[in-house]
Amino acid sequence: MKAMALRAPGGLDQIRAEDRPDPGRPGPGDIRVVLHGASLNYHDLAVATGRSKTADGRILLADGAGLVESVGEGVTEFAPGDMVVSCFFPDWQDGAPTIGDFARTPGDGIDGFAQETVVLPASAFTLAPKGYDAVEAATLTTAGLTAWRALVGDARLKAGDTVLLLGTGGVSIWALQIAKMFGASVAITSSSDEKLERARSMGADFTLNYRAEPEWGRRVRDWTGGKGVDHVVEVGGPRTLAQSIEAVRIGGHIALIGVLTGFSGEIPTGLFMAKQARLQGLIVGSRRQQQDFVRALDANGIRPVVDRRFALADLASAFRHEEGAHHFGKIGIEW
Ligand SMILES: NC(=O)c1ccc[n+]([C@@H]2O[C@H](COP(=O)([O-])OP(=O)(O)OC[C@H]3O[C@@H](n4cnc5c(N)ncnc54)[C@H](OP(=O)(O)O)[C@@H]3O)[C@@H](O)[C@H]2O)c1
Repeated sequence: MKAMALRAPGGLDQIRAEDRPDPGRPGPGDIRVVLHGASLNYHDLAVATGRSKTADGRILLADGAGLVESVGEGVTEFAPGDMVVSCFFPDWQDGAPTIGDFARTPGDGIDGFAQETVVLPASAFTLAPKGYDAVEAATLTTAGLTAWRALVGDARLKAGDTVLLLGTGGVSIWALQIAKMFGASVAITSSSDEKLERARSMGADFTLNYRAEPEWGRRVRDWTGGKGVDHVVEVGGPRTLAQSIEAVRIGGHIALIGVLTGFSGEIPTGLFMAKQARLQGLIVGSRRQQQDFVRALDANGIRPVVDRRFALADLASAFRHEEGAHHFGKIGIEW
């Protein structure tokens, strides 16, 4: 069986196509899944480039989807032929978060989905939305579920709310689709006017180039008539948070998700206090939240934006494409 593994010390030229033993028949509670698709996240890029350390020979990628081939004793939730999608935290089934690291996250602490076939507990997957292909389904695991939890789980988004999104990567474009599905108004930033145009065509109400306008927080607040936005999906981190605080309304909510600009920095605590806003750190979500998300997608027929698809053997090129920030939405891997 083929797998794309990362050899020490990491780096895109250390990604190797390797032969691994077939995982065999599913035991009690397990399912055997023939994988067909994955998608890339910033987290996978950090692992692949060696910035986030992993074990020598680790099979890459947190997101995976494919068809159930057979089920082990006692499995009633899935049947052969079902399209399933993996969970970012295979052990977090429901309830409040209890895991704060990536020790059991596929493609980081344990082997991921850049391989042909896996045998895993059924509880490490959910059904995919109806009609999705494997690449589309795989976009739910990390980016989709993060956007869903931020806006629907933590923010309790409702029709008429205003939402600010940063950049046009995987999380933000999923967040745009979810926010529009709920009838919210959306402001989105990008370094590219072309990408902003594309966001507008998907329903973004206010767009702004963060390179051309570094003080975008005030401009976003002006767009809301001076009040500020109800919710921010903060994927930037230390160098964007001050502007996000500027943009949020008094009593609003900021979902602190991303590390695109680093891992620590200065926060205008005085302004944050005056805003009386809620700053909620989060890492992806639970299996139950993924099931809720799938149910919502089944009811609404939304499909993710897969900007470009690469073959599994071309994984390093796909990561280079992500590094160059050429993409809008998700980058798919298909086999
Ligand atoms: N906590 C969690 O659960 C969780 C889950 C998923 C992702 N994340 C984090 O969220 C971030 C985004 O992840 P992703 O997978 O969506 O990444 P991605 O698809 O690689 O998106 C990267 C995009 O971010 C935008 N960007 C870069 N620097 C920016 C800045 N200073 N201000 C605004 N936008 C900026 C760029 O958009 P333009 O090209 O439009 O400028 C770039 O294309 C990463 O830090 C990732 O680690 C966290």
